[in-house]
Amino acid sequence: MSADKPHPDLRDWIELADSLGCLKRFQGASWDLEVGALTSLACREVANPPCLLFDEFAGFPAGWRVLTNAFTHTALASQILGMPAAIGPTERVKAWREKTRQMQLAPVRECAEGPVFQNVRRGSEVDLLAFPAPRWNEHDGGRYLGTGDIVVTRDPDSGQVNVGTYRMMLHDRDKIGLYISPGHHGRIHRDKYFARGERMPVVAVFGMDPLLFVAGGEGLPESMNEYEWVGAVRGGPVEVVRGPVTGLPIPAHAEIAIEGFVQADRVMDEGPLGEFTGYYASGTRPEAYVQVEALYHRDDPIILGSMPMRPPADYYHVRSTIRSALVWDALESAGVPDVQGVAYMPSAWLGMLVVAIRQRYAGHARQAGMIAAQCRAGAYLGRYVVVVDDDIDVNNVDEVLWALWTRSEPADSIDLVRNCWSTGLDPRIPPEKRGRRDLSNSRLLIDATRPFHWREQYPRVANPSEALLASIRTKWGNKLFT
Ligand SMILES: Cc1cc2nc3c(=O)[nH]c(=O)nc-3n(C[C@H](O)[C@H](O)[C@H](O)COP(=O)(O)O)c2cc1C
Repeated sequence: MSADKPHPDLRDWIELADSLGCLKRFQGASWDLEVGALTSLACREVANPPCLLFDEFAGFPAGWRVLTNAFTHTALASQILGMPAAIGPTERVKAWREKTRQMQLAPVRECAEGPVFQNVRRGSEVDLLAFPAPRWNEHDGGRYLGTGDIVVTRDPDSGQVNVGTYRMMLHDRDKIGLYISPGHHGRIHRDKYFARGERMPVVAVFGMDPLLFVAGGEGLPESMNEYEWVGAVRGGPVEVVRGPVTGLPIPAHAEIAIEGFVQADRVMDEGPLGEFTGYYASGTRPEAYVQVEALYHRDDPIILGSMPMRPPADYYHVRSTIRSALVWDALESAGVPDVQGVAYMPSAWLGMLVVAIRQRYAGHARQAGMIAAQCRAGAYLGRYVVVVDDDIDVNNVDEVLWALWTRSEPADSIDLVRNCWSTGLDPRIPPEKRGRRDLSNSRLLIDATRPFHWREQYPRVANPSEALLASIRTKWGNKLFT
């Protein structure tokens, strides 16, 4: 596959990673903690972490594999977005916005057959325990087949299909847990079916074109079908087969897919799972599981895994670009002018969102902060939203913290918003509140811009000018930098 061609499935992606020198293979590692620990170690201690491909699990057929860190390497992060590798994060967000503004959603291509149907198991033949699903962290309550997965559901009112990434814990040969946070589209669908006294049809896919996983994990607007978005980004339609049991679309080139039903009165304990916040916050709760009626897989299937871990995690480069762009789009659609940058801080991920504006009027900064904090892409499990002037690089933690220290005044610059959208994964929700099933949290909006009405009198920044630095570089750079 050439670098600028779309990648239709996970196997092409692995080939690409290999050809770019971004793949490491491991034979004989255990699914029990070793896959997770190696993935975590690579993220923490390897400068530019490669994809890890695990094979030859004891007790499982050789060739039944697990891939992790699918786009952690910066070369692969650029590839998946179709962006040049050598651009900075703010430029990447701008380029991504430009690309998505121009693209047309690409309707799926429906196929009669697909490699996913190479092996078909129905009813009592279904055996999810046959796959080397990892137990990722030491205190996890079980093996999770679904981490880098997608779950396909349909809104019973509108018929709209949604693709979301939600965790799935193995319970049994034909039962698999499904945890969907309140507010996520799959959960809204589920609650609608349950309110009608119906069971919800579900397709879940474990191992597919990683761009589908990217789409599943992002807060794309409800009107935007994730399959069609993926088709648009890669420049060719996603090929799907219709699930014979549920009628839901399954990526034809998927590695493993299931069809089944979730029912309100069929629940099992789900969790705990070491989560993407870096905690075991949601613990163990009864959750409606998927009763699996059909299992499909390719020969020598590959699970796509995404190790849940404290940020920055495997997906940061890609997801921060997409989410920042979505927040920027939302700000512009809401009429906030002169946004100059949007970024998530790597170590705080969803918890710290930074927006830079060129201030035009009194109240501009608060408006930007409020909308960034509450638009769909920016709202989920947020905590701090910081608005800075446009001389601050939103992706430079040092500059952002400097602006916080020197341009915000706690007595004047902060606003607190209560009862905001969070999730059971939020470690700071107190037990009694969690017990009441109140999964909301609060937002701190910090205006770290120079106050608008006296910004002209704000003390001058003490820094060598760019012009002075350029001339000094020319004159003395050789001596200093060599
Ligand atoms: C690796 C990964 C795992 C995730 N696990 C879950 C999960 O278990 N439950 C959940 O509700 N959201 C989970 N999310 C977040 C959602 O996928 C994300 O918020 C997405 O926007 C939801 O899509 P939706 O709005 O269409 O429901 C996960 C995201 C990623 C990237």
